[in-house]
Amino acid sequence: MTAELSRKKLSDLSAEMVAVAVRDGKETSGAVSSLPKALRDIVAERVKRLDFHGKPAATLLIQAGDYDLLLVGVGDGKTSEHWRRAGAAVRSAAAGARRSKLAIALDDAERVVDVIGPVLEGFLLQGYSFEKYRAKKDGAYAGPKSLLLSSPTLSVGTRTQAIVDTTQGVCEAVSLARDLVNEMPSVKVPSYLASTARTIGRARGLTCEVWQGAKLTREKMNGILGVSAGSHQGGALIKMVYKPKGRAKAKIAIVGKGVTFDSGGLSIKPAKSMETMKMDMAGAAMVLGIMKALPILAPQVEVHGFIAAAENMTGGGAQKPGDVIRFRNGKTAEVLNTDAEGRLVLADALCLASELEPDCIIDAATLTGACMVALGTRVAGIMGNDAKLIEKLIACGTETGERLWQLPLVEDYEDDIKSSMADIRNIGAGYGGTITAALFLRHFVGKTKWAHLDIAGPAYTERPLPYQPKGGTGFGIRALLAYLDSVG
Ligand code: BES
Ligand code: MN
Ligand code: ZN
Repeated sequence: MTAELSRKKLSDLSAEMVAVAVRDGKETSGAVSSLPKALRDIVAERVKRLDFHGKPAATLLIQAGDYDLLLVGVGDGKTSEHWRRAGAAVRSAAAGARRSKLAIALDDAERVVDVIGPVLEGFLLQGYSFEKYRAKKDGAYAGPKSLLLSSPTLSVGTRTQAIVDTTQGVCEAVSLARDLVNEMPSVKVPSYLASTARTIGRARGLTCEVWQGAKLTREKMNGILGVSAGSHQGGALIKMVYKPKGRAKAKIAIVGKGVTFDSGGLSIKPAKSMETMKMDMAGAAMVLGIMKALPILAPQVEVHGFIAAAENMTGGGAQKPGDVIRFRNGKTAEVLNTDAEGRLVLADALCLASELEPDCIIDAATLTGACMVALGTRVAGIMGNDAKLIEKLIACGTETGERLWQLPLVEDYEDDIKSSMADIRNIGAGYGGTITAALFLRHFVGKTKWAHLDIAGPAYTERPLPYQPKGGTGFGIRALLAYLDSVG
């Protein structure tokens, strides 16, 4: 699909469907003032009869001769999320009316440059679907072919074109992550994540290194090895590096949990809880998406992406409650529950990341069900050892529509992860499971500034949400890319 910018006003746009942004509470007549009188009268009548107000993402479809006119609400027009959801609403309406040549008139926006990104992003993300395992339907709607974003106050040039290009790059990264999360677990085993990383590396000019088998043993990746011990699928440590042209302003490590299926291991999960456990590699999918997008966004930061990949199964060799793991940094942990496996694989990758002495480490993991109890499915937990880093990430999340909420790393709870025989143990005392999980991770970052995102809730959605169909969401990519962009 092509996305282009133009300076045409609403009445000059020709498309099968022309959408026009309408502010909540504003007279609709302003937005459609350039249209012929006869059409304006129809709009006025329909707006009145249907009580249309321009509430965020509300739509009103009007047949205007040979094309469809779509009024789409953008609320007060001040938050980017409203524009994102408006873009998504246009995409849904286009699918409903099976239109392929589309235009959106943004005439009403005060700073059009600030809204073209969000509108396009919402539009593109709404268009995602995972069709790989469905029979092909004849005559199915093939999706839009072209989209024009238009406003007479828009300056069309390299700067605005760059917004279109980067937004497309970001959405492509989110789609990749969604595909990976939605893929079935017997396909997306750790070696599959590794070959995906290699393919991305080759295509985008990133270095990619994969440790498997005996190399994992030599490098003391004992968390990945312990979790993988019950599986026929060997684990993997995947590393990718993005280096900018010229001098990097910072070196940042991002780390993702890549448990390609979490049965719980011998501390096995009940069947119902296992249904969605193919999504337990969403942190890894986030890292792969970010690495794929970086060469397009081209920020002046060096980014080291780490993925700790393993399948948590119950085979005869499986690690057992009571086993002790000695990690690369020398610390030992008693494994009292094999279902608290995420922190074990992450510990390996966090050791490696901290050895690089980066400016900061940001990890993302579908780590605890407790985080979903605390924050629900639309907000990720954020914890760490650096208030500034956390504050910046939260701000990037707000800007991109990926909500993050800080939980405290309560020092007293360190007692909850003390072990009677090892340095620490891999489960807490019951309550505060998200915090004790993060406290466990803190043992592996050394002095490096670090933030941990518990994305167990928002990584996957059981029902369609604005611009997110059921399944993997690609959560974290947009917030972290915004952060990396702000640093470089
Ligand atoms: N992958 C799960 C966490 C999870 C649960 C993610 C639901 C997404 C949805 C993680 O490995 C896990 O099993 N955590 C346990 C920890 C417990 C054993 C301390 C949990 O949350 O129950
Ligand atoms: Mn688990
Ligand atoms: Zn898990």
